[in-house]
Amino acid sequence: MKFFVDTAQADDIRELNDYGLLDGVTTNPSLIAKSGRDFKTVVGEICAIVDGPVSAEVAALDFDSMLREAHTLAAIADNVVVKLPLTLDGLKACRRLSGAGINTNVTLCFSANQALLAAKAGATYVSPFIGRLDDINLDGMALINEMRAIYDNYDFSTQILAASIRNANHVKDAALAGADVATIPPAVIRGLVSHILTDKGLDQFIRDWQATGQSI
Ligand code: E4P
Repeated sequence: MKFFVDTAQADDIRELNDYGLLDGVTTNPSLIAKSGRDFKTVVGEICAIVDGPVSAEVAALDFDSMLREAHTLAAIADNVVVKLPLTLDGLKACRRLSGAGINTNVTLCFSANQALLAAKAGATYVSPFIGRLDDINLDGMALINEMRAIYDNYDFSTQILAASIRNANHVKDAALAGADVATIPPAVIRGLVSHILTDKGLDQFIRDWQATGQSI
């Protein structure tokens, strides 16, 4: 499973990229607003840090304006992926952009039928929002399982990008369910490495090693 980081904060992206843990980045209008910075400048900066795909979302709701914004975003860098909402106009824009060789991420997916439509529209990625489904007492991971089965049934090449991930269990369960990618907040990525027995074991090894008086 590929790891994307779900943030518009360049410092976090730089740090995680330096660890070699990142395959790509996703942003959304709320994350851009939180950064307090100019959208296109931030996207350009992120694209220069990470080799992999960087999702940047259109703000328009109608087809013509979406296409115009999509072309503006795609011109920022070769690794920009245009993020489109899962609406009829968004799907129409997705079909047009994928025909023009522009990578797309259809976002705000909450049902298997929506995911089927996005794949039929030629989406490169579709983003099911696990955490937001869990928030309303639905089963976010069940949607990933349904999407995996449907995409495999028909050999869709659209990649399942598990989104709205809130904790380490979401990451593990998305991997078990066969998601192609998970987009994960920086703090959750850092937390994946932690285990109390790793800390305890390392502490013991260091103390025993120091007692030998040796150096390497
Ligand atoms: C995905 O691309 C979205 O940016 C993100 O995962 C949304 O997560 P949230 O529900 O925590 O806002």
